[in-house]
Amino acid sequence: KTKIYKIDKNNIDDNKIKEAAAILKEGGLVAFPTETVYGLGANALDVDAANKIYKAKGRPSDNPLIVHIANVESLNELVAYLPEKGKKVIEAFWPGPLTLILNKSKNIPDNITGGLNTVAVRMPSHPIAIEVIKEAKIPIAAPSANTSGRPSPTNANHVIEDLEGKIDMIIDGGMVDIGLESTVIDFTSDIPLILRPGYITKEMIENVIGKIEIDKALLEEFAHSEAPRSPGMKYKHYAPKAPLNIIDGELDKVVCKINELLLDNEKKGLKVGIIATKQTKMYYNSGIVKVIGDRNHENEIAKHLFKTLREFDALGVDIILSESFNENYLGQAIMNRLLKASGYKIIKVN
Ligand code: TXA
Ligand code: MG
Repeated sequence: KTKIYKIDKNNIDDNKIKEAAAILKEGGLVAFPTETVYGLGANALDVDAANKIYKAKGRPSDNPLIVHIANVESLNELVAYLPEKGKKVIEAFWPGPLTLILNKSKNIPDNITGGLNTVAVRMPSHPIAIEVIKEAKIPIAAPSANTSGRPSPTNANHVIEDLEGKIDMIIDGGMVDIGLESTVIDFTSDIPLILRPGYITKEMIENVIGKIEIDKALLEEFAHSEAPRSPGMKYKHYAPKAPLNIIDGELDKVVCKINELLLDNEKKGLKVGIIATKQTKMYYNSGIVKVIGDRNHENEIAKHLFKTLREFDALGVDIILSESFNENYLGQAIMNRLLKASGYKIIKVN
């Protein structure tokens, strides 16, 4: 029922792109790769098509969707107004992993924005995503192509796991580059506000437009108290099936604590998963140890995070223990996703 097509992003088969675009134009659902994660696309101007997205994902209807476009001119029909700072950021980072929240135009159906008067827009850089949107000649609403609440999909198998049988087509374009969803930044107030950290960091944006802010609800100590501005941030997200605990502190103490918790849990007969790094994996002598990447290469850690959580699901572990990562630059996005995946279960060891 769900067509699964492999497309080589360096040698794109136009016929397959045309087929995908035709499905989208008719109001169907197509999952495709972007540079961040796989997206589940539908015609953003078609109420019924957008409703199908919520249904396929099991997504709460008040959690709005990002509208994807293939050229800047398409913005005109989607937003009421583009402020100067927004313009500059678009010039600097589009196409790429950055989503802008802007005041919406009347063309956007209410179910796309969860009833808000703002709309999220992004121009992806992945050649397959761009070709599909260009060929369809319509703006494409696309949340991450996972079942709501599960880790976002970074390869086509993750999409197949969650959505096969529920959507019309899945384009397999291999593993994504970044592995974390786009940075979301709100331009509807004077000082732009980051609602979701991502590959494009606060520092990178400030280099272009000066001072911006980061939503306080994203900071750990506010996670439970403040109402998040981005509706999506209030739901349980990215969560593996087993409880996940993050152990935070100096690295040698973290490793000691994980080994201690590992023994405790194994004594109870539990199967323990450990999220380790290239630098630490040799210090764990039991449990199921997965290396998420090299501590000196945050890009690797970002790229492998969601995949690692899904691997532990497949292995049926009872509990997952994760090292923490420093929060500089891309680390902020990594820790944001990890904290959310854990439900903010963090054990400090200093
Ligand atoms: O990288 C990405 O952004 C991926 C790929 C497929 O492009 N898409 C993605 O979409 O992550 P989704 O739906 O999983 O996440 C969209 C986020 C949610 O947290 C949602 O609440 C927020 O953007 N959002 C969407 N519209 C909004 C709005 N008008 N105001 C505030 N937040 C909004
Ligand atoms: Mg998502």
